[in-house]
Amino acid sequence: MAEEERLSTGSARPGQSGERADEADANPVEAGARAICGSEELSERGDGVRFEVDREGETLPAFAIRHEGRVRAYLNRCGHIAMELDWNHVKFFDAGGEYLICSTHGALYAPDSGACRGGPCRGAKLAALDVFESGGKVYLKTEG
Ligand code: FES
Repeated sequence: MAEEERLSTGSARPGQSGERADEADANPVEAGARAICGSEELSERGDGVRFEVDREGETLPAFAIRHEGRVRAYLNRCGHIAMELDWNHVKFFDAGGEYLICSTHGALYAPDSGACRGGPCRGAKLAALDVFESGGKVYLKTEG
């Protein structure tokens, strides 16, 4: 009987049931979301990932970064002048890893909100995009 129970539940031992939950959650993509990168591609305050979004008939550049454990994404368009931010390919953080920095004139943005924190972007924010992580991937909500 005990052997039958063990076989019927696979080889999982007590305390390993979380693995089954992870497997069940591996593909919960909602309608209207698309994968933009793997979660492991975004390290804390490290390189970002560039991608594109379609908005009002236009294809626009965007990027995602990880800050305080959370993935954030914005249109890659400075609030000062509509220039892309990255000072080198996929480099969005300043040297100290505290702010997102625009390469053109040095506008500084809060990574968690996109709000201007210094430089010529006064009062302007980066346009935030709705992203979430699931099953080891980062998804962009494209609808809703
Ligand atoms: S274009 Fe970004 S600071 Fe001027």
